[in-house]
Amino acid sequence: MQSFIQGLPKVELHLHIEGSLEPELMFELAKRNQVDLPYQSIEEVSAAYQFHNLQSFLDIYYAGAAVLIHEQDFYDLTWAYLLCCQRDCVMHTEIFFDPQTHTERGIAFDTVITGITRALADGQQKLGISSELIMCFLRHLDQASAFETLSQAQPHLDSLVAVGLDSSELGHPPQKFIEVFAKAREQGLLTVAHAGEEGPAQNISDSLDLLKISRVDHGVRCIDDPKLVERLAKEQIALTVCPLSNTKLKVFEQMEQHNLLELLRQGLCITLNSDDPAYFGGYMTDNFEAVASALSPTQQELAQFTRHAIDASFCSAERKAQMR
Ligand code: HPA
Ligand code: ZN
Repeated sequence: MQSFIQGLPKVELHLHIEGSLEPELMFELAKRNQVDLPYQSIEEVSAAYQFHNLQSFLDIYYAGAAVLIHEQDFYDLTWAYLLCCQRDCVMHTEIFFDPQTHTERGIAFDTVITGITRALADGQQKLGISSELIMCFLRHLDQASAFETLSQAQPHLDSLVAVGLDSSELGHPPQKFIEVFAKAREQGLLTVAHAGEEGPAQNISDSLDLLKISRVDHGVRCIDDPKLVERLAKEQIALTVCPLSNTKLKVFEQMEQHNLLELLRQGLCITLNSDDPAYFGGYMTDNFEAVASALSPTQQELAQFTRHAIDASFCSAERKAQMR
């Protein structure tokens, strides 16, 4: 099974590039940029990665991003992730970035996006890995800040395929961002949102109805609303499920309790993704392996995760045909 999973072609649809910052690169960039870290060693960083919910992770994740200053830092971060994709047979990846995490500390929007897109272009050219870029708004900030971010993105619209919504779900429902999502759609962008990770199933329905999202990021709490499960199956709306993230953040205490296989067998378009691999203990292959050992899916079901991800991808029809 291990070699089947390793060699299985994969497509990633839920990856925060800031969440791929490995402790080693964090230390290297801290040194290069003379940024003080609250850790003395790589071992201390790894020991700090014990989370009890989403917020306890987000606090550490935003602090880690402080080492990213120059365009080259964003390039190096993205390139390191693409090398992991190559190792894991990831053919195509759609990555999130959080501009506000950087602009809030004085880093220019252009610095961030230029570093990321330059690495993605090299990933296409040198590794044959295709990609799309999704700009996320931080939902703990207000809609005015999201609008400002969308205006900073105007010169770079060609580099973006969609906007998304991430950060603290509880207390920050999709209703808060109706107008900015409408504006993004007017500008030709698709939309996605984190919903039903820690928050209620209602956040999934509201993200579909009010933000007109094309896929649901996480979405595992849909199980609490049988009508919603029926809708997700009927309309084949993809869920970008992140198994290791869900157990690390205690959405499920143990992988054995994860509902993803049950949802797959009810006909939902389920995909497997790594979310924040440097923080949650693994990249795509690790997520597939964790699911395989806890839930015992068949090889056909494992291959189905990839087929679903191809179907739900925002890449061109030509690229989809190549990957099938
Ligand atoms: N949920 C919400 N916000 C995030 C996540 C997540 O899993 N990862 C990075 N930002
Ligand atoms: Zn996420």
